[in-house]
Amino acid sequence: MEDLKIGRRFFLQSGGVAAAVAGSTVIPIHNAQAATPARNTGTTLPYPKKAVGAAKRMPVNEVVSFTYPDASSPCYAIRMGNAVPGGVGPNNDIVAFSAYCTHMGCPVAYDGGTRTFKCGCHFSIFDPENGGQMVCGQATEDLPKIRLEYDAKTDAVSAVAVDGLIYGRQSNIL
Ligand code: FES
Repeated sequence: MEDLKIGRRFFLQSGGVAAAVAGSTVIPIHNAQAATPARNTGTTLPYPKKAVGAAKRMPVNEVVSFTYPDASSPCYAIRMGNAVPGGVGPNNDIVAFSAYCTHMGCPVAYDGGTRTFKCGCHFSIFDPENGGQMVCGQATEDLPKIRLEYDAKTDAVSAVAVDGLIYGRQSNIL
């Protein structure tokens, strides 16, 4: 590959590092290095489809644990017993969320009495009947919602995507 040669003044005017070139009048820069932009560390990988359970066998107002999109991401599905926004299943009442609090990543626990997810670390509360909305506490983000699909022929509920960033990750698909 051919090397470029540029003058010291041009290099400094275009954002070069002065300390690195002190005493030098000509800077060789390899063509490929000069033209390569910063790499995007995100991902375009598709979400997997993963079985969560049979809708009619899911208990009402109790969590069903599963992991999604991989084994290191615990989640809860819950059949609320009444239709909720974004709910799936024969009664549109099944929703699912990441089990990691959006504040500092502690696992949340479901409280059937108040029908909320609670984080014991700093007392954030999330509402599964309203999309995992943060109700109070230290968290400033809603619980990431696991997008579900329902197959009426087989009664199967499957996880198919995540809305919101799972705590501690730069990307939900690693
Ligand atoms: S980690 Fe949940 S409120 Fe702080």
